[in-house]
Amino acid sequence: MILVTGGAGYIGSVCAEQLLARGYEVCVFDNLSRGHREAVPPGAAFIEGDLEDRAAVSDVFRSRPIRAVMHFAAYALVGESMEKPNLYFRKNFGNALNLLEATIEAGVDRFVFSSTCAIFGDQVAPPIEEDAPKAPVNPYGESKLAFEKALEWSRRSHGLNYFALRYFNACGATNERGERHEPETHLIPLVLRAAAGLSDGIHVFGDDYPTPDGTCIRDYVHVLDLADAHIRALEAPGEKSGCYNVGVGRGDSVREVIEAVRKATGKDFPVIVVPRRPGDPPELVAANAKIRRELAWEPQHDIHSAVSSAWEFFQREQ
Ligand SMILES: NC(=O)c1ccc[n+]([C@@H]2O[C@H](COP(=O)([O-])OP(=O)(O)OC[C@H]3O[C@@H](n4cnc5c(N)ncnc54)[C@H](O)[C@@H]3O)[C@@H](O)[C@H]2O)c1
Repeated sequence: MILVTGGAGYIGSVCAEQLLARGYEVCVFDNLSRGHREAVPPGAAFIEGDLEDRAAVSDVFRSRPIRAVMHFAAYALVGESMEKPNLYFRKNFGNALNLLEATIEAGVDRFVFSSTCAIFGDQVAPPIEEDAPKAPVNPYGESKLAFEKALEWSRRSHGLNYFALRYFNACGATNERGERHEPETHLIPLVLRAAAGLSDGIHVFGDDYPTPDGTCIRDYVHVLDLADAHIRALEAPGEKSGCYNVGVGRGDSVREVIEAVRKATGKDFPVIVVPRRPGDPPELVAANAKIRRELAWEPQHDIHSAVSSAWEFFQREQ
């Protein structure tokens, strides 16, 4: 049985769904603070619990035959992390340590962690290699980087096999599950809201960046490709550990995403250019040779299939 923390959230629920589809038993542990009970796939066991509760976390390992952990549960709002840095260290580092200690105590030796490209900061030239300098520009990225280090020390001291998967921009949906953050800060769902007429338009934060169309470029990776990366990490044979970028290796600008949404939805909507936000690098694109080579991961989706699937999910949810 695979323990999936944060399995009521966006990426965790899709991974739980895909694990079940491949015949795994799944136990979701989530406090529903930022997720949705109905996102937990019906075939998964569900424990409503908080990672802050160390005893409750240990109980999970005592009461279920857990053989690997996928840890998605976290707070992931960059702006909130700037306002409340210690909340992020508590949630993303302290809580994760509770889980890590309980994992090691239970003798479970495979741990897959949702890391992020935010560990790199804003001074790295694309495409970003795994060993590029790490200089997070917000407490969110710093808290994730700190936990990567705890994982590496657990490997050295306890023989833990860990995979820190550094997602770039997750996007897209399956037939049943997709992105429903509240508040929503991610570009694609915000553009879809604009397309549906639920907002006054899409705000573009700066169009004077040194990129071909002046807007920021990001690497959008479909949530199904992310789930596939997790399952490959889970199934990788032997003693294996490491940090992997998970991105498609090409970038799309904000304007390109807006065009993809116009094409997928057939709708037009206002685009409102506003000043740059501090800390937004012009371009974040993954170098992904390592995960391709070591886990034979190959992304199957592009921005157009991601946007179309997100639009279908969005319409079903209205
Ligand atoms: N969405 C992205 O583009 C992206 C990019 C890089 C990394 N990540 C990372 O991927 C992971 C999942 O992201 P998401 O977009 O699915 O987030 P999400 O907010 O949709 O899901 C997180 C889930 O964790 C749960 N949770 C939070 N704190 C908890 C706690 N103390 N105990 C138990 N459950 C708790 C929430 O209720 C929620 O269901 C996060 O760790 C995030 O940092 C996401």
